[in-house]
Amino acid sequence: MQQYRIAILGSGNIGTDLLVKAMRSPHLTCVAFIGRGYTSPGMNKARALGITCSDQSIDYIPEHADEIDLVFDATSAKDHALHAPILKALGKQVIDLTPAKVGPMCVPAVNLDSSLGSSNLNMVTCGGQASIPVAFAIGQTHPEVDYLEVVSSIASKSAGPATRINLDEYIETTEKGLQAFSGAKRTKAILNLNPAVPCIDMQTTIFANVKNPDIEALKRVLDPIVEKIKTYVPGYKILVGPILDGDRIVVMVKVRGRGDYLPEYAGNLDIINCAAIAMAEQFAMNGGN
Ligand SMILES: NC(=O)c1ccc[n+]([C@@H]2O[C@H](COP(=O)([O-])OP(=O)(O)OC[C@H]3O[C@@H](n4cnc5c(N)ncnc54)[C@H](OP(=O)(O)O)[C@@H]3O)[C@@H](O)[C@H]2O)c1
Repeated sequence: MQQYRIAILGSGNIGTDLLVKAMRSPHLTCVAFIGRGYTSPGMNKARALGITCSDQSIDYIPEHADEIDLVFDATSAKDHALHAPILKALGKQVIDLTPAKVGPMCVPAVNLDSSLGSSNLNMVTCGGQASIPVAFAIGQTHPEVDYLEVVSSIASKSAGPATRINLDEYIETTEKGLQAFSGAKRTKAILNLNPAVPCIDMQTTIFANVKNPDIEALKRVLDPIVEKIKTYVPGYKILVGPILDGDRIVVMVKVRGRGDYLPEYAGNLDIINCAAIAMAEQFAMNGGN
């Protein structure tokens, strides 16, 4: 099979973890790792792996447009809003790891097939990738979802400066995703950056206020979705639930990473990056469409 040529824009935690995952893929070849300076740990790692690196940011891509099929954007929401029209004009397939919400939201376990027609896919957020499949299953089994609340905790060390700058966008995009995929009337997303040492694993808890909760029906829909997630995020695990706490449904999820760039505690990198790689591989297997 012909290799699908990808470039990674953004050399931080997300971009570097993505690079290691892309290098493991039998379908993808990383042809450029692009930042805005050569001194970051991500750039050093990419160079050590023998990858072509550039500090020219988005300007690198038009100059090498013929060499690239797909661009992952792992910079920040504000930067992606600037990059998106340039990449669109070049006709590049884009997978956006920032919470910029330029393109439609993609959660492979739920809407992989319908996402394949979009030239710019937004991977929502780490908390969104962990919780939306559960929210979707709740919405499928409960016609009236009054309120959904999602609380994610990640290790401070795994949240780079761009993640911290994008906290408002994280909340807005996660809440919009929860609403879109579950039909809930109201949604709330909370992100805790936990400074504990040793670092904590990524954990996400979903609370749902619904009319007439039906745990058995929910399990029947949720179990196959969880199996699907595990095919691309092996460290995804339901820790608790679904259970009823009073009249609220509660589901608690833990995500362990593969330790590709940061150690295994950083499941927040894996949950979104494995989803992004799964989509890129689909594009590769479909011959780029
Ligand atoms: N960390 C997570 O758990 C996580 C999970 C899901 C999604 N995200 C999202 O992913 C994005 C990156 O997060 P992160 O934690 O990886 O942050 P990060 O470590 O700060 O990485 C961002 C990288 O992008 C580079 N960059 C910024 N603007 C650029 C531009 N215009 N051109 C080229 N490179 C540029 C930065 O370069 P410098 O090194 O020069 O600053 C930095 O290396 C954020 O939007 C965040 O919300 C993060």
